[in-house]
Amino acid sequence: MSAIDERTMAELQEIAQRYPQPRSGLMPMLHLLQSVEGYVSDAGAEAVAELLGLTVAQVLGVATFYTQYRRQPGGKHQVGICATALCAVMGGDAVYQAVSDHLGIEDGQTSEDGLFSLERVECNAACDFAPVMMLNWEFMDNMTPEKAVKILEDLAAGREVQPRRGAKITSWQENERVLAGFYDGRADEGISAGEPSLRGKKAAEERGWKGESK
Ligand code: FES
Repeated sequence: MSAIDERTMAELQEIAQRYPQPRSGLMPMLHLLQSVEGYVSDAGAEAVAELLGLTVAQVLGVATFYTQYRRQPGGKHQVGICATALCAVMGGDAVYQAVSDHLGIEDGQTSEDGLFSLERVECNAACDFAPVMMLNWEFMDNMTPEKAVKILEDLAAGREVQPRRGAKITSWQENERVLAGFYDGRADEGISAGEPSLRGKKAAEERGWKGESK
């Protein structure tokens, strides 16, 4: 049975109404569907299509184009290991292998207990903290195989996991609701920019460098 109830329909409408062109709300609406059902179901896609005056094919065209959307149920936590060159050479491949071995799953699979889905992801623009692991879209910086496995063990045991630069790990579905624009008030947990990200700014300040606009 679909979990797209009256409350969800009202929230989908609320998102569409944020924009001058309601169809601009399509992507956050898909995030809301994922927060409710854990993926973009056929029923969810049909509901969104009807609300926006789109075809189901148009909605699914977006849901299948972007890797952040699931078309099938997944794990409580989405684990993404950056596989792009910088993270890979800094140890990302070893982190991926350790996580894959620990969970007994490969890219695109979900652990039998339903706790974790694993994927290789492309550059997360966090190269200054390479190698990075994403946990429900939160950055886990400077990963090592040992640290990554410990984090998964802690989550499996119900222990708190706090990223250095983000909010405490809850679940992928809870984060999906935030991505839909329903804030949980936790955006300011942790620091927003780490020291490596600020080095360029600091060097410019020390040398009196300023940007020029023409
Ligand atoms: S290469 Fe991994 S975050 Fe950029």
